[in-house]
Amino acid sequence: MSSDAIVMLKDDHKEILRTFREFEKADADEAKGSLVDRMIELLTVHTYIENEVMYPRVRELVPDLEDDVLESYEEHHVADVLVMELAAMKPDDERFTAKTMVLIENVRHHIEEEEQEWFPQVREALGRKTLQQLGAELAEARSKAPRKPSQPSALKKTVDAVIS
Ligand SMILES: [Fe+2]
Ligand SMILES: [Fe+2]
Repeated sequence: MSSDAIVMLKDDHKEILRTFREFEKADADEAKGSLVDRMIELLTVHTYIENEVMYPRVRELVPDLEDDVLESYEEHHVADVLVMELAAMKPDDERFTAKTMVLIENVRHHIEEEEQEWFPQVREALGRKTLQQLGAELAEARSKAPRKPSQPSALKKTVDAVIS
């Protein structure tokens, strides 16, 4: 597996987008419930490693992308709120599918912006070697990442996003 930061993050995106498509095709509450559990885990880990490593490092190394990074933090925050609410709901709740669809719309838009708008500029600015170093930092962060939104490190991330 490549240790290039952007390749790693795009691999995560692919897996996240796959669970979205599966959710859209699913009918039974049970299937929807386990897909949302999976989505929540993938998003909790992915958001954590971007918030802890990718975003601060890009902000520091590519100051031109400051506005994109700040907007992305806010998009993560919106997704975090939806994820926390979904984590407390059951699939037979009237609002479960609607809320999941809003999460999917938001995250798809966010992933598109990362992949189309600013990751290419990060690649251009940083080059291969730095992206591989960043990839190693992401892998390290992934090993300590929370997997559920209720874990303290995930809560801290959400609180930081609201307060700071
Ligand atoms: Fe992101
Ligand atoms: Fe991402």
